[in-house]
Amino acid sequence: MLTTRPRGTNDLLPGEIEKWQYLEGVLREVAELYGYQEIRTPIFEHTELFQRGVGETTDIVEKEMYTFLDRSGRSLTLRPEGTASTVRALLENKLHAGALPVKFYYIAPMFRYDRPQAGRYRQFHQFGVEVFGAAEPGLDAEVIAMMLDIYGRLGLKDLRVELNSVGCSDCRKVYRAALQEHLKEKLLELCPTCQGRYKKNPLRIFDCKSRQCQELVADAPTITESLCPACREHFSRVQEYLKELQIPYHLNPYMVRGLDYYTRTAFEIVAEGIGAQSSIGGGGRYDNLVEECGGPPLPGIGYAMGMERILLALEKQQVKLPLSRRQTIFLAALGKEAQKAAAVLAQELRQRGLSAEWDYQGRSLKAQLKTADRLGAVFTVIIGEEELQKGTVLIRKMQESRQESLPLEQVGSYLEKECGKGVSEDGAGTMEREKTGAQDSKN
Ligand code: HAM
Repeated sequence: MLTTRPRGTNDLLPGEIEKWQYLEGVLREVAELYGYQEIRTPIFEHTELFQRGVGETTDIVEKEMYTFLDRSGRSLTLRPEGTASTVRALLENKLHAGALPVKFYYIAPMFRYDRPQAGRYRQFHQFGVEVFGAAEPGLDAEVIAMMLDIYGRLGLKDLRVELNSVGCSDCRKVYRAALQEHLKEKLLELCPTCQGRYKKNPLRIFDCKSRQCQELVADAPTITESLCPACREHFSRVQEYLKELQIPYHLNPYMVRGLDYYTRTAFEIVAEGIGAQSSIGGGGRYDNLVEECGGPPLPGIGYAMGMERILLALEKQQVKLPLSRRQTIFLAALGKEAQKAAAVLAQELRQRGLSAEWDYQGRSLKAQLKTADRLGAVFTVIIGEEELQKGTVLIRKMQESRQESLPLEQVGSYLEKECGKGVSEDGAGTMEREKTGAQDSKN
């Protein structure tokens, strides 16, 4: 117990974390290009927020929430998703008081008590965006385009956009009745959870993981047939925009998404051939949610992508990310005085923006050079006791195995200049280079 993490959680370790940092960099950059601002909300909220926001009869609320009482007996829940929290923060901080629309993004851990498997975890991370105050179909198309832009920049291929309209509350009343009528004769064949959903919220039967329930709704009437003229018009305009933006999509009239707040446009992005958890992102419009949470009538739309799933898809598609690693300078010190000089020089180098490490343990030169090698140091500064008395050090350029003597006080400016020379191919900057390059240099 003490040495195992809870089921469905992951440690993100060096070696892997560089991919996360790269991914986060791309997400932040694109979010800003599209005019989104970052928002960070608490990891837990009042349970009621998700019950009301996400919906009482959803799988998330019925089966998957991490809910607990705090020491004062309040019911709190680790957030299973980001939309409800963002709406709460919008209202609490009156973020909708100024010019509209307002656009937010988040990168955050989410928690769902789901059955863990590759791509499905109990703690996972989402990048999500939420826009408030614009009901127009052009925005629906733009958020889908933004998702594809992100996946494209990362190098993902073979993606499918699944698109549907789940209508407004009027359309859903009609559809609900049609669905109940369809299932009337088969009610007892539904699983016990779906028998409850039949009365309260028959749309949720589409989310059921039981094969039997899936088969029972496979030939159900579609929501498309129940759309009111205004929702039909909105949906067709979304599709016009998508065509204009040259975004291919598949209409999937049975895709209702697992959260109750959706209205009109709903979409999911599926990565072909990456296994069972192939939905790498999804979202939709939620024009009634703000009002349902106690705010003014304010339309909303957003999406979230599973970051673990993106990384998994990249791996499956063998996409090599252009990861860069900071160059390091290693200071090998021989003797106590030399160690002090190394400590001081390391600080100076860091002030100059160079990454530096030195040997704290006073080991042999051979051992220290081995460390320099392991770190992939570009330069090693050898500070010997005798040379130090003369005020000089040796500088070894590791790749070229060439070394030269230099006055100690000139080392900082010399290395700053040397390290500033090479700008890596991807333009990552003077102190960055390809990670693979770092490994190659050892040979
Ligand atoms: P969602 O479809 O529940 O939507 O989740 C969005 C994405 O999160 C999924 O497409 C998937 O990539 C990832 N995901 C979900 N559950 C897991 C899990 N257990 N393990 C790993 N990844 C997972 C929402 O959460 C909505 N809040 C999206 C949204 C924002 N709609 C409007 N605004």
